[in-house]
Amino acid sequence: MKQYVSTRGGVAPVGFEEAVLKGFADDGGLFVPTAIPRISPEQLKAWAGLSYPDLAFEILSLFIDRETVPAKDLKQLIEASFQDFEHPEIMPVVPLPGDEGLFVLELFRGPTLSFKDIAMGFLINTMDYILKRRGGHLNLVLATTGDTGPAAAYAAAGKSSIDCWPLYPEGMITDEQERQMTTLSEGNIHAVGVTDCPDGGDDLDLIVAGLFSDAALVRDLGLSSVNSINWCRVLMQSVHYVYGYCRVCRRIGDPLVFSVPSGAFGNLFAGYLAREMGVPITTFICANNRNSALHTAFSTGVFKKRDLVQTVSSAIDIVVPYNFWRFLYFQAGGDPEKLAAWMDRFHKEGEVRLDQETADAIQRGYASCSVSDAQTLSTIRATWEADGYLLDPHGAVAVAAARELRDQLKREAPVLCMATAHPAKFPGVTARALGGKDLPPEACHPALQAAADLPRRGAVHSLEELKPRLIAGMKALKT
Ligand SMILES: Cc1ncc(COP(=O)(O)O)c(C=O)c1O
Repeated sequence: MKQYVSTRGGVAPVGFEEAVLKGFADDGGLFVPTAIPRISPEQLKAWAGLSYPDLAFEILSLFIDRETVPAKDLKQLIEASFQDFEHPEIMPVVPLPGDEGLFVLELFRGPTLSFKDIAMGFLINTMDYILKRRGGHLNLVLATTGDTGPAAAYAAAGKSSIDCWPLYPEGMITDEQERQMTTLSEGNIHAVGVTDCPDGGDDLDLIVAGLFSDAALVRDLGLSSVNSINWCRVLMQSVHYVYGYCRVCRRIGDPLVFSVPSGAFGNLFAGYLAREMGVPITTFICANNRNSALHTAFSTGVFKKRDLVQTVSSAIDIVVPYNFWRFLYFQAGGDPEKLAAWMDRFHKEGEVRLDQETADAIQRGYASCSVSDAQTLSTIRATWEADGYLLDPHGAVAVAAARELRDQLKREAPVLCMATAHPAKFPGVTARALGGKDLPPEACHPALQAAADLPRRGAVHSLEELKPRLIAGMKALKT
């Protein structure tokens, strides 16, 4: 049986079903597979022409036993998870004609218009499938910087096995994102705006981690997490690297660079997984905004917590990219004690200096940079004027980073930049970037316009009162 262990090493191995339902391991660590399966070049060639759902089926089958999810059910779960995507290819690749060798992978064609839809639908459908089979109910508690919350709320809406509690930092996400969570009428969605969070989503991550550190509470309330803490999210996100690679590279084996706007490192960890499986990705560009803990780690070997800076690419305003621990676990050769020592130092001192060997290892196959708001805005404007293509602020961070680092990478390969959200979610930033002109039709989306007139529901609590209020809310549902 395919098994998963905790990065903290404190629990017995579990199967896929437990890893998905629990989210966090019981010792507070993150689940990782005991072995990463390999895809041979021949296999990759055979898969190169597959549709996205068919490719997802092949890759997920490497990680999920048939006894846990039979092939027919896995196919159905995947089909159901992508039926609301608006593009027949699910995630089209678009060349930027003004920039030879630069491509955009549009990951935002799902129902809530961000790349979070790609894995969230499948994760929540799979949770529901398992819960219906074995009986049970979960309270999904998640922190969002604006996109995870809408994706989870949409996927969970109306599911009787699940209540979903998206927590967002009030005033630090766009009105469009807030409405995607607060205008759903289904009674199992309980969006909570949280005031007084100086570190935004990171403050909420801490509340979520705090809830999960209390094993009795987790059991009593049936808590689980669908942040990219959950292994299933990361696993499904590895598929778009394989798919993107096969779409851009004419010959399997050709080099390719990915540029990824990065916050919590969930998406980039999925890229690591795809490369470990055997996809010949030459370099990952880790594109940070001014919240640049990852860029600092890659370029100096020091993983460091700094104060949050609010930027125009607000979804990646993240101070502590928690999936970086998963990456470091593998860099430490799967040694939970080494990882625990780094984590303890980080929590006590706010930083950890990696040993030279690890600092060198994490640089292999990675480049990074920190993109300013001015660069993000000018990239949106320049790409619109030169290519007639409208980027959202996060896609713009990826494109700006690719343009900055291409010469350093000696233009060795095409670059596939991840566009992780639709620009319609950020009309204020688009207007600033385009210089106050009327917004073009590309900056709007009917799904967001439809939500504009719907009544809102949901609660607002301060960070201080959040935990007891949440617990009381969940207990009240039980009675
Ligand atoms: C639009 C957008 N781009 C990029 C990211 C960063 O992804 P990750 O947190 O997996 O690094 C997020 C989410 O946090 C997002 O919402």
